[in-house]
Amino acid sequence: MNTEIDLSAFDVSKRRLIEGPSNRMMAIYPLKHTWAREVWKVMLANTWMAQEIDLSRDVKQYKELTEADRVMYDRSLAFLSNLDGIQFNNLTLNIGQYITSPEVSMAISRQSWEEANHVDAYETMIEAISLNPIELYTLFARDKVLAAKNEYIMRQSNVLGSDYSAENFALAVVANIILEGIYFYSGFLSFYTLAKMGKMLGSADMIRLIQRDEEVHLHLFVNMFKTLQQERPELFTTAFYQKVAVLFDEAVKLESSWGSYIIEGGVLGLTPQIISDYIKSLADDRLAMIGMPVMYAVKNPVPWVEKFSKVNGVEANFFESRVTSYSVGGQLKW
Ligand SMILES: [Fe+2]
Ligand SMILES: [Fe+2]
Repeated sequence: MNTEIDLSAFDVSKRRLIEGPSNRMMAIYPLKHTWAREVWKVMLANTWMAQEIDLSRDVKQYKELTEADRVMYDRSLAFLSNLDGIQFNNLTLNIGQYITSPEVSMAISRQSWEEANHVDAYETMIEAISLNPIELYTLFARDKVLAAKNEYIMRQSNVLGSDYSAENFALAVVANIILEGIYFYSGFLSFYTLAKMGKMLGSADMIRLIQRDEEVHLHLFVNMFKTLQQERPELFTTAFYQKVAVLFDEAVKLESSWGSYIIEGGVLGLTPQIISDYIKSLADDRLAMIGMPVMYAVKNPVPWVEKFSKVNGVEANFFESRVTSYSVGGQLKW
């Protein structure tokens, strides 16, 4: 017997999201965190490639956009491409290393691939539309608002790199719920608003595919949150929930001010108020997903986005986000 391999990692009753026994064998069956397997299957079913999207009309249309439309398009693309790069590294360098459930590790590795696929998708848009790639990727170096947003998100996603604790891991899970569920959405909204006017339709198709993935990532992290609540209830103190509320509130402020910045006060009927209310309604939706009270109670001012943002207008066939992982049988004893 190889004594370096921790055999207790094969005992499903001992498996934990973090700080459980682990080895490198990835023995996922029997499953403990069944939701992670469901996420994995949905992710595989959602596989797509940027080359499938026809951007030929966008190439022509981009040249016909108004200056304000173009500013909004470029700023959104710059931020979203930066964010997917940040998230790819966050998963591979930070989050991934602390997970001790092989089925969750698999879902995270697939998520990393999807974030890389999104990096590829944004690159495909930049190349097709003949934008200067370095100018776009480094817009933050000339744009203080974008720099501040990137910097805040990187600091949040880096908390584990410098200072691991179970509580910081749980906070990082919340930061990921916010990243996947809030920070993309001013940008997504700007692409859909252009497309609703018949502009840049290929770009919107690409964004729909990306958003479908981000929604699955959101569910992945919501399930991690719920799993931690079950496995590590001592982490979920009043002080912890207060920190979560602060993270949400900072995110809503940051994303609303970013949204009003990219529309420069108002483009195509979008106003700072509409963006702010939209972001608040998303935040409330995400808070409800993790069982927290809503913080804003505003009406979604752009209800058309819900259907408009779906790939082929089809509602995603989501698995349930509640944790069902403890009803699984099959217990290995060693
Ligand atoms: Fe992404
Ligand atoms: Fe994502």
